[in-house]
Amino acid sequence: MKPRPVILDVDTGVDDALALMLAFRSPELDVRGILTVSGNVHVSQATANTLAILDLLDAPPIPVAAGAAAPLARPGITAGDVHGSDGLGGAAGCFPPSRRTVAVDAVGFLLDAIGRQPEELTLIATAPLTNLALAIERDAPTVRKLRALFVMGGAVRVPGNLGPVSEFNFAVDPEAAAIVLGAGLPVTLIPLDVTERVVLTRARLDGVKSVRRLHPFVEEIVAGAMGLHRSCGEPAGVVLHDPLAVGVVLDPSLVRREPMALAVETRGVLTAGMAVADLRRRSRTAPNADVCVEVAAERFLDLFTERVLR
Ligand code: BDR
Ligand code: CA
Repeated sequence: MKPRPVILDVDTGVDDALALMLAFRSPELDVRGILTVSGNVHVSQATANTLAILDLLDAPPIPVAAGAAAPLARPGITAGDVHGSDGLGGAAGCFPPSRRTVAVDAVGFLLDAIGRQPEELTLIATAPLTNLALAIERDAPTVRKLRALFVMGGAVRVPGNLGPVSEFNFAVDPEAAAIVLGAGLPVTLIPLDVTERVVLTRARLDGVKSVRRLHPFVEEIVAGAMGLHRSCGEPAGVVLHDPLAVGVVLDPSLVRREPMALAVETRGVLTAGMAVADLRRRSRTAPNADVCVEVAAERFLDLFTERVLR
């Protein structure tokens, strides 16, 4: 079968890096470009990290387009506590990228790419949705020609991870998330409800005896995040939020989805970025997203291990 053309939108970040690795190690996908945005780290660092990962993967010369430096309407929030101040657990300095970004901005690149492959291109967004919201503001009809949009974000029936009810990607840019969910796009949401179930444990990582050069790099970038998970009383491990978004594109049978009417809170002092699902039995609000509610975690972890770690 012809590989599926995809673009990734990332704020590389440890788990974005792992998602890129999974995407490039998956023959079912044809990565046509990568957009970067501020999130886990500032966009300049996210871009450098992305380019470095492509070097490490010996990836072909894929266009990387740098995107928004700040959320639409509020100051940025980064996640150095989880990903390290360089986004790669302190490893970024050892891998200065040899490649460069393309000379076009992320929004222009995306619109152009959709225009060239209408109804064919899939976007996988594993970061705040600023770039996509700006693309919708610039040219919504073109964005609606995406074949599919997979978004890692939100916490629907579980607590948040940045705020009590808000997940990081939505909480960093709630206005952008609201625009994206309100734009009539074919959205599949991969929220914390499922991503927090896919944990790369220390035991699994140690159990892989690999001589491939990705393995020591993965060891290095996940070291800090492993410790964090343990400090919450869980076994040491790294949550594979963003790789799962790629996994769902690769194998839809990994998850069970429910159509839901979803909105994003933008005004609350405590709740900005909350994904609000209208779960009333008699709700008349039409669903606007397929939300992943269950995941075959072991099966996904096996796929990830096989493709990225061995
Ligand atoms: C999301 O937030 C980021 O820190 C991760 O890269 C992931 O995209 C999880 O809430
Ligand atoms: Ca991310």
